Amino acid sequence: MKIAVLGTGGGARCHIAKLLELGHEVVVGTRDPQATLARTEPDMMGNPPFQQFLAEHPGITLLPFGEAAAAADELVISGIDGHNAVAALTVIADQLTGKTLIDYAVPFVYQHEPEHPWPTPWGIMPKLEPVDTDSLGEQIQRALPRTRVVKSFVTQEQSTVVNPAGVGGGDHTMFVAGDHADAKQQTAALLKSYGWTDILDLGPLVAARGMEMYAHMHSAIGFGLGQQFGGHFGIKVVR
Ligand SMILES: NC(=O)c1ccc[n+]([C@@H]2O[C@H](COP(=O)([O-])OP(=O)(O)OC[C@H]3O[C@@H](n4cnc5c(N)ncnc54)[C@H](OP(=O)(O)O)[C@@H]3O)[C@@H](O)[C@H]2O)c1
Repeated sequence: MKIAVLGTGGGARCHIAKLLELGHEVVVGTRDPQATLARTEPDMMGNPPFQQFLAEHPGITLLPFGEAAAAADELVISGIDGHNAVAALTVIADQLTGKTLIDYAVPFVYQHEPEHPWPTPWGIMPKLEPVDTDSLGEQIQRALPRTRVVKSFVTQEQSTVVNPAGVGGGDHTMFVAGDHADAKQQTAALLKSYGWTDILDLGPLVAARGMEMYAHMHSAIGFGLGQQFGGHFGIKVVR
C-alpha cells in the first residue's frame, strides 16, 4: 500500500522505517522539502538531520504536506506537531478527502507561564490546549469533515508503537477512537501488522480527550521510572 506519513520528527521516523520494513511504499510530508533537506543540525529532540535519515532509508519520497497526502492510496499518518496540526491539515483538506487520517499528536503548548509550574528534568511541563472539553483529534475531524479521523498511538512512544514486543513481550494495550468504523478497522489492521494483539476500541472520537490527557501521566510514569524523555513502558488494561 502507498501510505503517507506527514511529519519528519522522531515519531514519524519510527512509522516511516517500520512501514518500509513491512514492504509499503512511503511518501513523507514536510512543510518545505528543500528546507528540510538543507538542515544540518539535530532537531530539538536530538534527532539527526532528516537528510541523514533519508540516506539510511532509501526509497522514501519527500514532498510538501499536501502532495504527500494526495499521493496516499487511502491511509495517512499525521506526525505534525500537535500545536500546529489543525492549521497545517486544514489547508490540505482537499488532498485528504476520502482518506483515513491517523493522528497521534499531543496538543502541547511549550511556551507558557503557569501559576503552578511542573518542573521536569527538561524544563516546565508544557500545557495541553485544547483539554478536558475538547481534543486535538476532534478539532482535526471538525476541520476535515470529508476525512475519517482516528486517534491512536498517542499513549506510547512511537518507537514502542511500531515495536510492541520491545516492552513486556508485547503484552500491553493500544487504543483507537474515531467516528468511522471502517477507518478504525484500517488502523487496527495496521497495528496488527506492527505486532499489536490487544487493541481496545474506545468508541467515538470524543475519547481522544482521555488519550491526549494521558500525556501527563505518561510523562509522570516515565519520571517515576527514571526515564527523562518519554519512556519505554506499556499500559495493560487488565480485564
Ligand atoms: N515522538 C513520539 O514518540 C511521540 C509519542 C506520542 C505523541 N507524540 C506527539 O506527536 C506529535 C508529533 O511528534 P513527532 O515526534 O513525530 O514530531 P515533532 O518533532 O513533534 O513534530 C515535527 C513535525 O511537525 C511539523 N511542524 C512543526 N511546526 C510546524 C508548523 N508551524 N506548521 C506545520 N508543521 C509544523 C514539522 O514540519 P517540518 O517537517 O516541515 O519540519 C515536523 O514534520 C507531537 O505532538 C508529539 O507530542 C510523539
